[in-house]
Amino acid sequence: MHDETHPPKSLVLIGFMGSGKSTIGRVLHEHLGYPLLDMDQLIEARAGKTIREIFADEGEAHFRDLESRLLEELCAPDAPRRIISTGGGVVVRPENRERLRQLGYVVWLKASTENILQRTARNKARPLLQTEDPRAAIVELLAAREPLYAQCAHLSIDTTGLSSEEVATGVLESARYYFTQGN
Ligand code: S3P
Repeated sequence: MHDETHPPKSLVLIGFMGSGKSTIGRVLHEHLGYPLLDMDQLIEARAGKTIREIFADEGEAHFRDLESRLLEELCAPDAPRRIISTGGGVVVRPENRERLRQLGYVVWLKASTENILQRTARNKARPLLQTEDPRAAIVELLAAREPLYAQCAHLSIDTTGLSSEEVATGVLESARYYFTQGN
């Protein structure tokens, strides 16, 4: 039984932009039935504007404040078990890394620079990749963030060459084990 001191743990997806967090989150939601919460979508809905507009109007630091505040809110002791899909930069602030671990089972979806480039190329929604040389931006950000994803993750999955169903199956098997251990 879960009580006040042991709130149910969620399944949290982390990883770089274009690593498939939202897609895998939807597949996991279909299999497990836990509510799906996409942090970027909720931030946009609350702000009444897109992430691109938030970055343009108020700057990245403001977006990070909204992201950190939302993460804090999600850690409430009475929160239900959910599947949580995060934004790729959520690991940058140390307090967020702690909160991610508090939230539950943290799965890092790893994707190669090539895959990320392909998946993000035609989409203008990601302000950090709207540069002359998106590949260089990806390489630089990945180098800075990989150790941070590694610090947070209970499980990492290299998604290269795998379908969404295959990735989700891997996550499901490990998550079911984690949850049956009383978490
Ligand atoms: C960001 C990733 C984005 C979004 C914002 C910043 C980042 O989310 O939160 O554009 O810093 O990596 P996705 O990982 O869902 O693209």
